[in-house]
Amino acid sequence: MKTNDPIYLDYNATTPLLPEVVDAMLPYLREHFGNPSSGHVYGRRARDAVARAREQVAALLMVDPGELLFTSGGTEANNLAIRGIADGRAGPGRIVTTVIEHPATERPCAWLEAHGWTVIRLGVDETGRVRMDDAGAAIVPNTALVTVMHANNETGVLQPISELADLSHRAGALLHTDAAQSIGKVPVRPRELGVDLLSLAGHKLYAPKGVGALYVKQNTALVPFLRGAGHERGLRPGTENVAAIVGLGVACQAAARDLESLAARLQDLCDLLWRRLAAAVPGLALNGHPTQRLPNTLNVRLPRASGTAILAAAPELAASTGSACHAGHETASAVILAMGVAPADAVGSLRLTLGRGTTRDDVIRAADLLAATWRHVAA
Ligand SMILES: Cc1ncc(COP(=O)(O)O)c(C=O)c1O
Repeated sequence: MKTNDPIYLDYNATTPLLPEVVDAMLPYLREHFGNPSSGHVYGRRARDAVARAREQVAALLMVDPGELLFTSGGTEANNLAIRGIADGRAGPGRIVTTVIEHPATERPCAWLEAHGWTVIRLGVDETGRVRMDDAGAAIVPNTALVTVMHANNETGVLQPISELADLSHRAGALLHTDAAQSIGKVPVRPRELGVDLLSLAGHKLYAPKGVGALYVKQNTALVPFLRGAGHERGLRPGTENVAAIVGLGVACQAAARDLESLAARLQDLCDLLWRRLAAAVPGLALNGHPTQRLPNTLNVRLPRASGTAILAAAPELAASTGSACHAGHETASAVILAMGVAPADAVGSLRLTLGRGTTRDDVIRAADLLAATWRHVAA
C-alpha cells in the first residue's frame, strides 16, 4: 500500500499477497507453464509444484496431503462439500446449518431446500454463538450433513465446532465447516476439530483470489459437482491453476510459521482499537463474543449513527459495515440482527479487521478518525 492510501482495516474482505507468495508464483507465470497432466518435463515441473503446495497446505492443517482438493476458492469448496455429500444420498434428506452462514454456504443449502431437502437453520445467542441445546434438538438421526462456519466473517465469532462434530457423529451425520476466515488467524486442525470436511479460501490468508481448498477426511464419500477429466482424484476436474496453488502453499507455510506471533500482535492491536474507541464514543458496544473471537476482528456498534454514513464521511479509512460480498445497501446486517440487536441499533455497526500490514499508528489514527466522524454524524 502507498503512504497516502486509506488505512486498510478490511482484512476479512481480502488480504494483499505476501511478497514471498508473489516470488514463489512468478516462475509458474513466466517459465513453468506446463500442464500438470502432461507426461514430459514441463508437466512434471508443474505437477511437482502442485504436490509441494498440497504438502504445505496439509502441514498447516496437520492432515494428509491426499485429503485435500484444490478449488477455485471458498465458494466452490463450500458448494462441493454440501452438494458433494447431498448428491451421494439416494434422495432428499436433512441438513442443519445456521442463520449466520456466508452466502457460499447458505445459497447451496437454499438450493437443496428448493429441491426437497429439509434445511434447519440454527439461530445464535447474543454473543453470536450457536446454542448447543438447539443444535442437539436439530441434529437428529438421519441428518445427512451439518454445516456450520468456524469463524464468522462479520463478527469473527468462533463456533463450538468440536462439540458440534461430536453431536453430528453421534447422530450419524457428517460435519462440514467453512474455515475461510479462521485459517491463518487461529490454529485450525480438522482432526482436532473432528470435522469431516473443511473449506478454505486463499485470498483471506495472503494468497491469490480464485484459489482455495477442501479438506475431505479419508474414506468420506463425495460426489463431484463439476464433471470433467480426472484431476484431483476426479473430484474436482479442470486443469490446475498452478501459480495460484503454488501461492496458496507458500501462504500456508507462512501462516504456520507466523501464526502465534501474528495472532498475539493483532489481538493487542484489536484491544487497543477497542479501548481507544470506547473511551471516545460513549455507549459503544461490541458485536460478538468477548473472547471466543478471531484475534483480528472487532465489530462495534456506534450509537445513534449509521455505519455506512460514518464510512462515507471518513474516506481515509477502508473498512466495512457488513460483509464486503454483499455491501452497498443500508439494511442492517442479518448476522448482527440474528444476535438480537434491534435494527435501528444494528445499522450503527462497523467491521474493523486487522492484518499483517496493520501498525499501532494505523489503529490509533483509525480510532481517532472514527470517533471524530461519529461526533459529526451522530444524531
Ligand atoms: C466465511 C466465508 N466463506 C466463504 C467465502 C468465499 O470465499 P471466496 O471468495 O474464495 O469464494 C468468504 C469470502 O468472503 C467468507 O468470508
